[in-house]
Amino acid sequence: MEIRFRDTNAERIRTGLLVVPVREKQLDDPQLRGLDRRLNGNLRAHIQRSKFTGAEGSTLLYTPSGLLTVAQLLLIGMGGEAEIAPDTWRKAGARARREAIGIGVEDVAFLFAAGSNADRAAGAVVEGALLAAYQFNKYRSNAKPAAEIKSLTLFGPGLRTTAGLQRAVDRAQATAPAVFLARDLTNEPPSVATARFLGEQATRHCRGRGLTVEVWGKKKIEAMKLAGLLAVNRGSHEEPRFIKIHYRPAGKPKKRVALIGKGITFDSGGLSLKPSKAMETMKLDMAGGAAVIAAMSCLPKLDLAIEVTGYVPTTDNLPGHNAQKPGDVIQYLNGKTIEVLNTDAEGRLILADALALAAQEKPDYMINLATLTGACMVALGTQVAGLFSNNPPLADALLRCSGETGEKLWQLPLVKEYKETIKSSVADMKNIGGAHGGAIIAALILQEFAGEVPWAHLDIAGPAFTESDNLIAPKGGTGFGVRTLVKFLSSL
Ligand code: BES
Ligand code: MN
Ligand code: ZN
Repeated sequence: MEIRFRDTNAERIRTGLLVVPVREKQLDDPQLRGLDRRLNGNLRAHIQRSKFTGAEGSTLLYTPSGLLTVAQLLLIGMGGEAEIAPDTWRKAGARARREAIGIGVEDVAFLFAAGSNADRAAGAVVEGALLAAYQFNKYRSNAKPAAEIKSLTLFGPGLRTTAGLQRAVDRAQATAPAVFLARDLTNEPPSVATARFLGEQATRHCRGRGLTVEVWGKKKIEAMKLAGLLAVNRGSHEEPRFIKIHYRPAGKPKKRVALIGKGITFDSGGLSLKPSKAMETMKLDMAGGAAVIAAMSCLPKLDLAIEVTGYVPTTDNLPGHNAQKPGDVIQYLNGKTIEVLNTDAEGRLILADALALAAQEKPDYMINLATLTGACMVALGTQVAGLFSNNPPLADALLRCSGETGEKLWQLPLVKEYKETIKSSVADMKNIGGAHGGAIIAALILQEFAGEVPWAHLDIAGPAFTESDNLIAPKGGTGFGVRTLVKFLSSL
């Protein structure tokens, strides 16, 4: 999809689909009035006959019957908020694309009078239009080739193609393929997307200036004493992998950041076996790892002065004959020990290794993403990730980025009193607490391994996967986290 900018007004544009964002109850906006005049008042009449008020998410399609050089006109309601949120622009971009595909049009012109925050609004419109294109049809025998949009023109009277506008659009174009990579890796069937496969994919996609990839096999993992990963892997027929991706910027780095992703390629629960219903989507359990690999993969295109290391411990969690047993104790490289009372609380076991390893490098920030607990979904539902942090400025920065990307985060507390519940009778801690506050318990265990490093944990169990199609993602892996990580790194 080619992105263009034009300084012109709606009456002059020639396109298959002219998209006009409309503020709620502001139907006498000058652009709209101008169009209506050209259409002899028919547009206004059409709006009045419909129930369209500009409420957020509503749309109205109109065929202007030859009076304009436009095949179809699409009004998109933007709601009545004082300032239009980036996610509203993003959804408008997605709606524009879907409508154009629906009516078989290949070029779209989007009337863009964004006002004060034009750059970020333009980036969001383009991002929405790009993200809405995703499909995973590899395993369908009857898939038709996807319809494409050839061009998207953002236009408006007085629209200036500034460096900031161009940069915002370039960022969206650099990030969307990374989001698609994360979705692809998550959607791949679990017997295809093994630990070895993830390692190969990381090597294949993390290329370009400054990026290097190491994929550690079982021997190296043993030598590095990654005891949690080895313990979880014991029930599996597949070897584990530990993926380490490094990005070194051309100049001197301003900050050093570690990204850590949970890479459980399939979570059966291990000997603490899950019921079948709960297992149906457990190929999603590497979505955190996928997000880290994907975010790393687009760093060379962004040219940031940040040194970033990605760590993805990966294995499946299966109840093979040699599987770890409830009651087993794991000794970690930082000396701490965990008694495993439930083999289904495995994410924290493999993340503990990765956090301890990453903390040794003393990065400025350490951020982990993990589909860690069903409890976080109970608390926040399927659209919001839990955010935990030992460092308020880092948490605030991530919340700000989340507001921009529309990947919703909500901060939950690290309640130190709850550490009582993970006391073990034989080890430093056990891997489960009591019946309540499961997302917090899991986060408290991770915190033990973050040490003094400013750290944030995103529990993405809910939003990593969508059970139904939405505007920017079809049913399946969403690539949640990629855009917020990229935004965060770009903001440093
Ligand atoms: N991968 C799951 C968490 C999960 C559940 C992610 C549903 C996405 C959707 C995790 O490994 C797990 O099994 N957690 C247990 C922890 C419990 C045994 C303390 C859970 O949430 O039930
Ligand atoms: Mn589990
Ligand atoms: Zn899991």
